[in-house]
Amino acid sequence: MINYGKQNINKKDISAVIKTLQSNYLTTGPNTKIFERNFQKKIKCKFALSTSSGTSAIHLALLALNIKKGDVVIIPVINFIASLNMLEHLKAKVYFADVNKHTGQMTPETLKDCIKKNKLKKIKLVITMYNGGNPLNAEKFYDLKKKYKFKIMEDACHALGGKYHSTKNSYVGSCKFSDIATFSFHPLKSITTCEGGMVTTNDTEIQKKIKQIRNHGMYRKKTGRKNYNWFYKIVYPGFNYRLSDVNCSLGNSQLSRLDTLIKKRVKVALMYKSKLNDYQKYVNLPEVDKNKTASHLFIINFKLEYLKISRDEIIKKLYNSGITTQVHYIPINSHPYYKKYNKIILLSAKEYFKCSLSLPIYPDLSEKKVDYICSKIKHLINKYKNKR
Ligand SMILES: Cc1ncc(COP(=O)(O)O)c(C=O)c1O
Repeated sequence: MINYGKQNINKKDISAVIKTLQSNYLTTGPNTKIFERNFQKKIKCKFALSTSSGTSAIHLALLALNIKKGDVVIIPVINFIASLNMLEHLKAKVYFADVNKHTGQMTPETLKDCIKKNKLKKIKLVITMYNGGNPLNAEKFYDLKKKYKFKIMEDACHALGGKYHSTKNSYVGSCKFSDIATFSFHPLKSITTCEGGMVTTNDTEIQKKIKQIRNHGMYRKKTGRKNYNWFYKIVYPGFNYRLSDVNCSLGNSQLSRLDTLIKKRVKVALMYKSKLNDYQKYVNLPEVDKNKTASHLFIINFKLEYLKISRDEIIKKLYNSGITTQVHYIPINSHPYYKKYNKIILLSAKEYFKCSLSLPIYPDLSEKKVDYICSKIKHLINKYKNKR
Protein backbone atom coordinates (compact mmCIF):
# COMPACT_ATOMS: atom_id res chain seq x y z
CA MET A 1 0.00 0.00 0.00
CA ILE A 2 1.08 3.58 -0.56
CA ASN A 3 0.13 5.48 2.58
CA TYR A 4 -1.17 9.02 2.30
CA GLY A 5 1.52 10.20 4.74
CA LYS A 6 4.66 8.85 6.37
CA GLN A 7 7.15 10.08 8.94
CA ASN A 8 10.79 10.66 8.03
CA ILE A 9 13.14 9.18 10.64
CA ASN A 10 16.90 8.96 10.05
CA LYS A 11 19.90 7.58 11.97
CA LYS A 12 20.61 10.95 13.59
CA ASP A 13 17.07 11.02 15.01
CA ILE A 14 17.48 7.51 16.41
CA SER A 15 20.84 8.22 18.06
CA ALA A 16 19.48 11.47 19.55
CA VAL A 17 16.65 9.51 21.19
CA ILE A 18 18.97 6.74 22.41
CA LYS A 19 21.34 9.32 23.91
CA THR A 20 18.48 10.89 25.86
CA LEU A 21 17.20 7.50 27.03
CA GLN A 22 20.68 6.86 28.45
CA SER A 23 20.82 10.24 30.20
CA ASN A 24 19.50 11.30 33.61
CA TYR A 25 16.46 13.10 32.18
CA LEU A 26 13.45 11.47 30.60
CA THR A 27 10.82 14.10 31.32
CA THR A 28 11.56 17.86 31.25
CA GLY A 29 15.33 18.23 30.93
CA PRO A 30 18.04 19.86 28.82
CA ASN A 31 16.60 18.70 25.47
CA THR A 32 13.29 20.39 26.22
CA LYS A 33 15.08 23.72 26.65
CA ILE A 34 17.24 23.16 23.56
CA PHE A 35 14.26 22.19 21.38
CA GLU A 36 12.22 25.19 22.51
CA ARG A 37 15.17 27.57 22.04
CA ASN A 38 16.00 26.23 18.57
CA PHE A 39 12.33 26.35 17.52
CA GLN A 40 12.03 29.91 18.76
CA LYS A 41 15.20 30.93 16.88
CA LYS A 42 14.19 29.15 13.68
CA ILE A 43 10.65 30.53 13.59
CA LYS A 44 11.76 33.92 14.96
CA CYS A 45 9.13 34.34 17.64
CA LYS A 46 9.74 35.54 21.19
CA PHE A 47 8.54 32.38 22.95
CA ALA A 48 8.15 28.73 21.96
CA LEU A 49 6.62 26.33 24.47
CA SER A 50 6.56 22.60 23.86
CA THR A 51 3.39 20.63 24.67
CA SER A 52 2.32 17.00 24.82
CA SER A 53 0.28 17.28 21.58
CA GLY A 54 -1.18 19.73 19.10
CA THR A 55 -4.49 19.40 20.92
CA SER A 56 -2.98 20.32 24.29
CA ALA A 57 -1.25 23.24 22.54
CA ILE A 58 -4.70 24.46 21.44
CA HIS A 59 -6.19 23.92 24.90
CA LEU A 60 -3.34 25.83 26.54
CA ALA A 61 -3.59 28.65 24.02
CA LEU A 62 -7.34 29.01 24.65
CA LEU A 63 -6.82 29.03 28.42
CA ALA A 64 -4.02 31.58 28.15
CA LEU A 65 -6.30 33.80 26.02
CA ASN A 66 -8.88 33.45 28.80
CA ILE A 67 -11.59 31.93 26.63
CA LYS A 68 -14.52 31.16 28.86
CA LYS A 69 -18.24 30.39 28.89
CA GLY A 70 -20.19 32.40 26.31
CA ASP A 71 -17.18 33.95 24.58
CA VAL A 72 -17.70 34.28 20.83
CA VAL A 73 -15.14 32.34 18.80
CA ILE A 74 -15.14 31.85 15.02
CA ILE A 75 -13.51 28.84 13.39
CA PRO A 76 -13.50 27.44 9.85
CA VAL A 77 -16.01 24.64 9.37
CA ILE A 78 -13.53 22.53 7.39
CA ASN A 79 -11.21 21.67 10.22
CA PHE A 80 -9.65 19.05 12.43
CA ILE A 81 -11.90 18.49 15.44
CA ALA A 82 -9.37 19.50 18.14
CA SER A 83 -10.18 23.22 18.32
CA LEU A 84 -13.96 22.64 18.42
CA ASN A 85 -13.59 19.97 21.11
CA MET A 86 -11.48 22.26 23.28
CA LEU A 87 -13.91 25.15 22.78
CA GLU A 88 -16.78 22.84 23.76
CA HIS A 89 -15.01 22.02 27.03
CA LEU A 90 -14.61 25.74 27.71
CA LYS A 91 -18.30 26.34 26.81
CA ALA A 92 -17.43 29.02 24.29
CA LYS A 93 -20.07 30.18 21.81
CA VAL A 94 -18.75 28.85 18.51
CA TYR A 95 -19.61 30.19 15.05
CA PHE A 96 -18.51 28.47 11.86
CA ALA A 97 -17.12 30.29 8.84
CA ASP A 98 -17.50 28.85 5.36
CA VAL A 99 -14.40 28.14 3.26
CA ASN A 100 -13.01 28.50 -0.22
CA LYS A 101 -14.45 25.57 -2.17
CA HIS A 102 -11.03 24.53 -3.50
CA THR A 103 -8.63 25.05 -0.59
CA GLY A 104 -11.03 24.30 2.27
CA GLN A 105 -9.61 27.38 4.03
CA MET A 106 -11.64 30.17 5.62
CA THR A 107 -11.12 33.42 3.69
CA PRO A 108 -11.49 37.07 4.78
CA GLU A 109 -14.76 37.10 2.81
CA THR A 110 -16.22 33.98 4.47
CA LEU A 111 -15.13 35.33 7.85
CA LYS A 112 -16.89 38.66 7.18
CA ASP A 113 -19.97 36.75 5.96
CA CYS A 114 -20.04 34.78 9.21
CA ILE A 115 -19.83 38.00 11.23
CA LYS A 116 -22.60 39.66 9.20
CA LYS A 117 -25.00 36.72 8.97
CA ASN A 118 -24.79 36.02 12.68
CA LYS A 119 -24.80 39.75 13.56
CA LEU A 120 -21.77 39.24 15.79
CA LYS A 121 -20.76 42.25 17.85
CA LYS A 122 -18.20 41.21 20.44
CA ILE A 123 -15.91 38.61 18.91
CA LYS A 124 -13.26 37.38 21.30
CA LEU A 125 -11.24 35.10 19.03
CA VAL A 126 -10.83 33.89 15.47
CA ILE A 127 -8.91 30.66 14.96
CA THR A 128 -7.46 30.35 11.47
CA MET A 129 -6.36 27.02 10.01
CA TYR A 130 -4.12 26.68 6.96
CA ASN A 131 -5.76 23.56 5.57
CA GLY A 132 -3.12 21.71 3.52
CA GLY A 133 -0.22 23.90 4.64
CA ASN A 134 -0.41 27.03 2.46
CA PRO A 135 -0.68 30.04 4.82
CA LEU A 136 -3.17 32.01 2.76
CA ASN A 137 -4.64 35.37 3.80
CA ALA A 138 -2.87 35.72 7.19
CA GLU A 139 -2.28 39.41 6.47
CA LYS A 140 -5.92 40.06 5.56
CA PHE A 141 -7.18 38.30 8.68
CA TYR A 142 -4.86 40.61 10.60
CA ASP A 143 -6.49 43.66 8.98
CA LEU A 144 -9.88 42.34 10.12
CA LYS A 145 -8.50 41.80 13.61
CA LYS A 146 -7.71 45.52 13.78
CA LYS A 147 -11.19 46.40 12.51
CA TYR A 148 -13.20 44.04 14.75
CA LYS A 149 -10.75 43.91 17.68
CA PHE A 150 -10.64 40.14 18.07
CA LYS A 151 -7.59 38.05 18.89
CA ILE A 152 -6.18 35.69 16.28
CA MET A 153 -4.93 32.24 17.02
CA GLU A 154 -3.36 30.31 14.16
CA ASP A 155 -3.99 26.59 14.35
CA ALA A 156 -0.85 26.15 12.26
CA CYS A 157 -0.67 22.38 12.62
CA HIS A 158 -0.52 21.98 8.81
CA ALA A 159 1.84 24.85 8.14
CA LEU A 160 5.11 24.43 10.04
CA GLY A 161 7.87 25.45 7.63
CA GLY A 162 5.50 27.59 5.55
CA LYS A 163 6.08 31.33 5.17
CA TYR A 164 3.67 34.26 5.03
CA HIS A 165 3.02 35.38 1.47
CA SER A 166 3.53 39.11 1.97
CA THR A 167 6.91 38.61 3.67
CA LYS A 168 10.20 37.54 2.24
CA ASN A 169 11.11 34.97 4.80
CA SER A 170 8.81 35.01 7.84
CA TYR A 171 7.83 31.58 9.06
CA VAL A 172 4.30 30.78 10.17
CA GLY A 173 4.48 30.87 13.95
CA SER A 174 6.47 34.10 14.12
CA CYS A 175 3.07 35.58 15.07
CA LYS A 176 3.58 38.55 12.75
CA PHE A 177 -0.14 38.43 12.02
CA SER A 178 -1.54 36.76 15.13
CA ASP A 179 -1.45 36.66 18.91
CA ILE A 180 -0.57 33.02 19.21
CA ALA A 181 0.10 29.97 17.02
CA THR A 182 -0.11 26.24 17.69
CA PHE A 183 1.64 23.28 16.05
CA SER A 184 1.39 19.50 16.13
CA PHE A 185 4.30 17.06 15.80
CA HIS A 186 2.09 14.08 14.96
CA PRO A 187 4.09 11.72 12.68
CA LEU A 188 2.47 13.00 9.49
CA LYS A 189 3.25 16.67 10.17
CA SER A 190 6.28 18.67 8.88
CA ILE A 191 8.42 17.30 11.74
CA THR A 192 7.56 14.74 14.38
CA THR A 193 8.15 14.03 18.05
CA CYS A 194 5.78 10.98 17.88
CA GLU A 195 3.11 12.85 19.84
CA GLY A 196 3.82 16.49 20.64
CA GLY A 197 3.12 20.11 19.92
CA MET A 198 4.29 23.70 20.35
CA VAL A 199 2.75 27.07 21.13
CA THR A 200 4.46 30.22 19.87
CA THR A 201 3.74 33.81 20.89
CA ASN A 202 5.41 37.18 21.28
CA ASP A 203 3.33 38.02 24.34
CA THR A 204 5.12 37.70 27.70
CA GLU A 205 1.90 37.34 29.74
CA ILE A 206 0.52 34.58 27.49
CA GLN A 207 3.84 32.77 27.74
CA LYS A 208 3.82 32.96 31.54
CA LYS A 209 0.28 31.57 31.74
CA ILE A 210 1.02 28.69 29.38
CA LYS A 211 4.15 27.70 31.30
CA GLN A 212 2.16 27.57 34.49
CA ILE A 213 -0.96 25.77 33.20
CA ARG A 214 1.22 23.24 31.33
CA ASN A 215 2.76 22.16 34.61
CA HIS A 216 -0.24 21.61 36.96
CA GLY A 217 -0.61 25.33 37.70
CA MET A 218 2.51 25.20 39.85
CA TYR A 219 4.33 28.33 40.90
CA ARG A 220 7.89 28.07 42.17
CA LYS A 221 9.72 31.12 43.36
CA LYS A 222 13.34 31.27 42.25
CA THR A 223 15.27 31.70 45.47
CA GLY A 224 18.67 30.43 44.39
CA ARG A 225 18.58 28.26 47.54
CA LYS A 226 19.17 24.62 46.60
CA ASN A 227 17.67 23.30 49.83
CA TYR A 228 14.36 25.08 49.03
CA ASN A 229 13.60 23.40 45.67
CA TRP A 230 10.81 21.23 47.16
CA PHE A 231 8.45 24.18 47.68
CA TYR A 232 5.72 25.20 45.24
CA LYS A 233 2.25 26.74 45.28
CA ILE A 234 -0.68 25.72 43.08
CA VAL A 235 -2.11 28.93 41.65
CA TYR A 236 -4.35 27.41 38.91
CA PRO A 237 -6.01 24.00 38.37
CA GLY A 238 -3.57 23.11 35.62
CA PHE A 239 -2.65 20.04 33.57
CA ASN A 240 0.36 17.93 32.76
CA TYR A 241 0.77 18.99 29.13
CA ARG A 242 4.59 18.79 29.13
CA LEU A 243 6.56 17.16 26.30
CA SER A 244 9.21 14.71 27.50
CA ASP A 245 12.94 15.15 26.97
CA VAL A 246 12.96 12.01 24.80
CA ASN A 247 10.34 13.49 22.46
CA CYS A 248 12.17 16.83 22.48
CA SER A 249 15.48 15.25 21.47
CA LEU A 250 13.71 13.72 18.45
CA GLY A 251 12.04 17.06 17.71
CA ASN A 252 15.33 18.89 17.87
CA SER A 253 16.98 16.48 15.47
CA GLN A 254 13.99 16.75 13.09
CA LEU A 255 13.92 20.54 13.33
CA SER A 256 17.50 20.73 12.03
CA ARG A 257 16.20 19.47 8.66
CA LEU A 258 12.84 21.25 8.56
CA ASP A 259 13.66 23.18 5.37
CA THR A 260 14.94 20.05 3.61
CA LEU A 261 11.81 18.12 4.55
CA ILE A 262 9.57 20.93 3.27
CA LYS A 263 11.55 21.18 0.00
CA LYS A 264 11.01 17.47 -0.55
CA ARG A 265 7.26 17.79 0.09
CA VAL A 266 7.06 20.73 -2.32
CA LYS A 267 8.92 18.68 -4.94
CA VAL A 268 6.28 15.93 -4.65
CA ALA A 269 3.49 18.51 -4.94
CA LEU A 270 5.07 19.97 -8.08
CA MET A 271 5.39 16.47 -9.57
CA TYR A 272 1.65 15.94 -9.08
CA LYS A 273 0.95 19.33 -10.66
CA SER A 274 2.90 18.54 -13.80
CA LYS A 275 1.66 14.96 -14.14
CA LEU A 276 -2.02 15.90 -13.71
CA ASN A 277 -1.76 19.15 -15.64
CA ASP A 278 -3.58 17.87 -18.72
CA TYR A 279 -6.54 16.70 -16.65
CA GLN A 280 -7.60 20.06 -15.28
CA LYS A 281 -10.92 19.84 -17.08
CA TYR A 282 -11.80 17.10 -14.57
CA VAL A 283 -9.83 17.98 -11.51
CA ASN A 284 -8.81 21.18 -9.79
CA LEU A 285 -5.17 21.23 -8.61
CA PRO A 286 -3.97 23.29 -5.63
CA GLU A 287 -1.67 26.29 -5.98
CA VAL A 288 1.85 25.37 -4.93
CA ASP A 289 3.77 28.48 -3.94
CA LYS A 290 7.10 26.79 -3.60
CA ASN A 291 8.70 29.33 -1.28
CA LYS A 292 5.67 29.72 0.96
CA THR A 293 3.69 26.51 1.38
CA ALA A 294 4.53 23.72 3.81
CA SER A 295 2.84 21.24 1.43
CA HIS A 296 1.46 19.20 4.31
CA LEU A 297 -1.29 17.85 2.04
CA PHE A 298 -1.96 17.72 -1.68
CA ILE A 299 -5.70 18.30 -1.95
CA ILE A 300 -7.39 17.97 -5.33
CA ASN A 301 -11.07 18.64 -6.09
CA PHE A 302 -12.84 16.50 -8.65
CA LYS A 303 -15.15 18.35 -11.03
CA LEU A 304 -17.91 15.83 -10.49
CA GLU A 305 -20.22 17.45 -13.04
CA TYR A 306 -17.89 16.00 -15.71
CA LEU A 307 -17.60 12.55 -14.11
CA LYS A 308 -19.96 9.64 -13.63
CA ILE A 309 -18.37 8.54 -10.38
CA SER A 310 -18.50 9.90 -6.84
CA ARG A 311 -15.51 10.96 -4.72
CA ASP A 312 -16.25 8.06 -2.34
CA GLU A 313 -16.14 5.54 -5.20
CA ILE A 314 -12.83 7.05 -6.34
CA ILE A 315 -11.42 6.51 -2.83
CA LYS A 316 -12.51 2.85 -2.91
CA LYS A 317 -11.05 2.22 -6.35
CA LEU A 318 -7.73 3.88 -5.48
CA TYR A 319 -7.60 1.83 -2.29
CA ASN A 320 -8.13 -1.33 -4.32
CA SER A 321 -5.13 -0.27 -6.42
CA GLY A 322 -2.97 0.00 -3.29
CA ILE A 323 -3.29 3.77 -2.75
CA THR A 324 -4.53 5.20 0.57
CA THR A 325 -6.05 8.65 0.32
CA GLN A 326 -7.81 10.85 2.88
CA VAL A 327 -10.44 13.54 3.17
CA HIS A 328 -9.51 16.71 5.07
CA TYR A 329 -12.10 17.13 6.52
CA ILE A 330 -15.71 16.19 7.22
CA PRO A 331 -17.36 19.57 8.11
CA ILE A 332 -16.91 19.62 11.88
CA ASN A 333 -20.43 20.84 12.68
CA SER A 334 -21.89 17.66 11.19
CA HIS A 335 -20.63 15.11 13.73
CA PRO A 336 -23.20 13.30 15.92
CA TYR A 337 -22.00 14.84 19.20
CA TYR A 338 -22.45 18.35 17.79
CA LYS A 339 -26.22 17.99 17.21
CA LYS A 340 -26.76 21.60 18.19
CA TYR A 341 -24.71 22.66 15.13
CA ASN A 342 -25.88 19.96 12.67
CA LYS A 343 -28.42 22.16 10.90
CA ILE A 344 -25.88 24.81 9.88
CA ILE A 345 -25.20 24.43 6.17
CA LEU A 346 -22.30 26.25 4.58
CA LEU A 347 -22.50 25.77 0.84
CA SER A 348 -18.86 26.01 -0.24
CA ALA A 349 -17.78 23.67 2.56
CA LYS A 350 -20.46 21.21 1.42
CA GLU A 351 -19.15 21.38 -2.14
CA TYR A 352 -15.52 21.11 -0.98
CA PHE A 353 -16.33 18.07 1.12
CA LYS A 354 -18.13 16.33 -1.75
CA CYS A 355 -15.31 16.80 -4.26
CA SER A 356 -12.00 16.91 -2.42
CA LEU A 357 -9.37 14.26 -1.92
CA SER A 358 -5.94 14.31 -0.28
CA LEU A 359 -3.41 12.36 -2.33
CA PRO A 360 -0.39 10.71 -0.69
CA ILE A 361 2.38 13.16 0.13
CA TYR A 362 5.47 12.80 2.30
CA PRO A 363 9.12 13.78 1.90
CA ASP A 364 10.37 10.47 0.49
CA LEU A 365 7.47 9.68 -1.81
CA SER A 366 9.25 8.60 -4.99
CA GLU A 367 8.54 9.85 -8.50
CA LYS A 368 7.75 6.25 -9.46
CA LYS A 369 4.96 6.14 -6.87
CA VAL A 370 3.64 9.58 -7.87
CA ASP A 371 3.59 8.32 -11.48
CA TYR A 372 1.64 5.26 -10.41
CA ILE A 373 -0.88 7.30 -8.38
CA CYS A 374 -1.40 9.76 -11.25
CA SER A 375 -1.80 6.93 -13.78
CA LYS A 376 -4.57 5.42 -11.63
CA ILE A 377 -6.35 8.77 -11.31
CA LYS A 378 -6.10 9.39 -15.04
CA HIS A 379 -7.40 5.89 -15.73
CA LEU A 380 -10.46 6.54 -13.53
CA ILE A 381 -11.11 9.89 -15.19
CA ASN A 382 -10.86 8.36 -18.68
CA LYS A 383 -13.17 5.52 -17.71
CA TYR A 384 -15.83 7.64 -15.97
CA LYS A 385 -15.75 10.98 -17.78
CA ASN A 386 -19.02 12.25 -19.15
CA LYS A 387 -19.12 11.77 -22.89
CA ARG A 388 -21.32 14.85 -23.34
C1 LIG B 1 -5.32 21.30 12.05
C2 LIG B 1 -5.00 20.45 13.23
N1 LIG B 1 -5.24 20.92 14.47
C3 LIG B 1 -4.95 20.19 15.56
C4 LIG B 1 -4.40 18.94 15.47
C5 LIG B 1 -4.16 18.16 16.72
O1 LIG B 1 -2.84 17.76 16.85
P1 LIG B 1 -2.48 16.45 17.71
O2 LIG B 1 -2.89 15.26 16.92
O3 LIG B 1 -0.97 16.54 17.84
O4 LIG B 1 -3.16 16.56 19.01
C6 LIG B 1 -4.13 18.41 14.20
C7 LIG B 1 -3.53 17.07 14.08
O5 LIG B 1 -3.94 16.19 13.40
C8 LIG B 1 -4.45 19.17 13.05
O6 LIG B 1 -4.24 18.71 11.82
